[in-house]
Amino acid sequence: MERMIRIFDTTLRDGEQSPGASMNVEEKVMVAKQLARLGVDIIEAGFAYSSPGDFEAVRRIALEVEGPTVCSLARARPEDIDRAWEALKGAPKARIHTFLSTSDIHLKHQFRMTREEAKKRAVEMVQRARSYMPDVEFSLMDASRSDQSYVYEVIEAVIAAGAGTINIPDTVGYAVPQEFGALIKGIFDKVPNAKQAVISVHCHNDLGVAVANSLAAIVNGAGQVECTINGIGERAGNTSLEEIVMGLRTRKDFYRADTGIRTEEIAKTSRLVSKITGMVVQPNKAIVGANAFAHTSGIHQDGLLKDKTTYEIMRPESIGLIESKMVMGKLSGRHAFRQRLEDLGYKLSDEELNHAFERFKKLADQKKEIFEEDLEVIVSEELAKM
Ligand code: KIV
Ligand code: ZN
Repeated sequence: MERMIRIFDTTLRDGEQSPGASMNVEEKVMVAKQLARLGVDIIEAGFAYSSPGDFEAVRRIALEVEGPTVCSLARARPEDIDRAWEALKGAPKARIHTFLSTSDIHLKHQFRMTREEAKKRAVEMVQRARSYMPDVEFSLMDASRSDQSYVYEVIEAVIAAGAGTINIPDTVGYAVPQEFGALIKGIFDKVPNAKQAVISVHCHNDLGVAVANSLAAIVNGAGQVECTINGIGERAGNTSLEEIVMGLRTRKDFYRADTGIRTEEIAKTSRLVSKITGMVVQPNKAIVGANAFAHTSGIHQDGLLKDKTTYEIMRPESIGLIESKMVMGKLSGRHAFRQRLEDLGYKLSDEELNHAFERFKKLADQKKEIFEEDLEVIVSEELAKM
């Protein structure tokens, strides 16, 4: 039996921090409804205190979106916590997510607080949030660059104060997988009440390892992953939801963990977020990039026509695509060429096929990709000669 990992989607909060990706209230509600169809466990709908628009987005999502828990971010300040509650109070399931840094770099240069002051504030704000609702999350911002014994101390104190989820962010994407996994393991080994809470992770992708860090955390006991659609987010972005979900699903044999995500909704959700935010998905992006299920090599195409498992570890249908794509080009072989002509309704004799294939190869040397129209011309001219 697999362990179920909670998916906390922060496309509407951290994702919106991608430069130029801001969304209006209607757009946020539309994305939130699609996230509910996708089956995420928690939607971080925004940061209610930050602007009237964000407050309204959290309020509307809390009222209108059914299924997931709706969450608002709040700094560890009374006015933020109160505002988050105001926005969330109509939700059937609500969570306040409050945070404060634990690294000396942040405490000294940004917050100008001692470690003791920060721990006290964290406890007080968790208690304040708990006075409004039972579901409270606390994040130790910049945890991966913090002194580990202080991290353990803060975690123990905020769990005792009533936080049910403890989030460990790699805020600046500095951690590497083995190290980050060890940080999570250390929490279970060293914090006496750690098992009373869900340990969550929130990884940024500055070094390109946000998904790897999140997977390492899961292996070491994390029960919630914070992520975004298409991996959008501050700077180089966050852990990508589709990669973590399909990683767990495809390698269930290894991770022995899964999520409740309806994966057939992934492609549709990716397209919606890309359209609304204007953030184009790179073609070679894992899972949702245009090339993720496209095959160009003749050897691969031949294998796939014989059996899909030769070169596909996931079925395109599993993320809601109709089928994988065979790119017709100079590397394509006779087998794929014949198959594509048959798909287009042409059944050629061996001789006709040989001639048509020769012309196709010549054309393919001059063009990046051969389209249906090109094939139609080649075949009709060949047939006319016969
Ligand atoms: O990256 C970060 O540390 C955050 C926190 C607010 C969770 O986004
Ligand atoms: Zn973040």
